[in-house]
Amino acid sequence: MSVVEMNVSGQTKARADAKPILELQGLSKSFGAINVVKDVSLDVWPGEFVSLLGPSGCGKTTTLRMIAGFIAPNEGRIVLGGKDITEVPSYRRDVGLLFQSYALFPHMTVRGNVGFGPKMRGETSGVIADKVRWALSLVKLEGYEDRRPNELSGGQQQRVAIARVLAGGASMLLLDEAFSNLDAKLRGRMQEEVRELQLRLGIATVLVTHDQEEALAMSDRIVIMNGGKVEQIGTPKQVYSAPSSMFVADFMGRCNRIEGTLRQDRRAKAWYLDCGPSGTIKLETIPHPDAREGEECPVFVRPEHLRLTQSLENHEGEGLKGRIERVVYLGSRSVAYVTLEGNIPLQVHLPNKPGISDEFSIDRPVVVVPLPGAVTPLPE
Ligand SMILES: Nc1ncnc2c1ncn2[C@@H]1O[C@H](COP(=O)(O)OP(=O)(O)OP(=O)(O)O)[C@@H](O)[C@H]1O
Ligand SMILES: [Mg+2]
Repeated sequence: MSVVEMNVSGQTKARADAKPILELQGLSKSFGAINVVKDVSLDVWPGEFVSLLGPSGCGKTTTLRMIAGFIAPNEGRIVLGGKDITEVPSYRRDVGLLFQSYALFPHMTVRGNVGFGPKMRGETSGVIADKVRWALSLVKLEGYEDRRPNELSGGQQQRVAIARVLAGGASMLLLDEAFSNLDAKLRGRMQEEVRELQLRLGIATVLVTHDQEEALAMSDRIVIMNGGKVEQIGTPKQVYSAPSSMFVADFMGRCNRIEGTLRQDRRAKAWYLDCGPSGTIKLETIPHPDAREGEECPVFVRPEHLRLTQSLENHEGEGLKGRIERVVYLGSRSVAYVTLEGNIPLQVHLPNKPGISDEFSIDRPVVVVPLPGAVTPLPE
């Protein structure tokens, strides 16, 4: 791959000339008879933030530990900055690894922790002091040099761990569930801070996470893994709105599955999906190149791309009839659990706007109308 799409600040940049900083080429790893990483290939580009996302046990940490050099692959190669490092021991790899548990030295001060890498490399005390000052200023911890880890909050300990990795002079940052020990509010703040710092330093980063929102919020690209294999690689928008498999569609957020039969209105050049007793919905485009009338075509649609109305009027007869089973209030939105005629369950997100009382109450007949372009044929 010679071109990558980056979504930094929503921009799309073509990088035809750049070379990847990290190349994983057909990595596989077995523990005993069990193959936990299967033929994983990935290029990470300079300055890029890539997340490995997937359910527990899918091989994310194992992949990251192979990059760090703690585990040797059974097959495949790892190339860093154009050099094959597959056989290079971990301490001679130019990557900084940050664990969930921070792994700070408890008996050392902040200064000792952050200066550990440069000291081990035999730098002079002046250089070590400069690096410690630089790294602590990046994570906004000036003045904390003499504290020990047990005298710091969770967020501060995490900043020290990041400063230690940065002072170590790594050319890449590897983060394993680095935010999962923090409470929700602090987690969000640290995610923003780390992303801002990563962009400022332009340091390529691989984050392992099982948290979809974290991956969506932080990454230029996301690698979705399942059972040791790569399911899809794409920008947050690509993996969310154009998933390549049912697994990705489902893993990236709630996804409603609707079954129906295709019908074409040749005069209007439109395709419709007849969904039995609940009604008909319009498809914006031909569902796939070989689509034909009468074909069974399962589709998916996200709950936030559905609207509830009181009746089919004003919608040219397009919409699915059902009944609200329950409504769950979640602050910024509510979730309506609807059962369509024909007993098909659907979730619909209702944005909570000020001044609007509960418009839709339980047991009411409603019509579910998808937003234009929201209905997508299910991938294989
Ligand atoms: N040293 C090991 N020996 C044997 N099996 C291992 C070893 N390390 C990991 N595994 C197994 O390999 C599989 C993948 O583990 P891995 O830690 O990579 O998962 P993960 O995707 O990081 O999951 P989680 O989100 O739970 O951290 C799991 O089934 C795990 O039990
Ligand atoms: Mg893990």
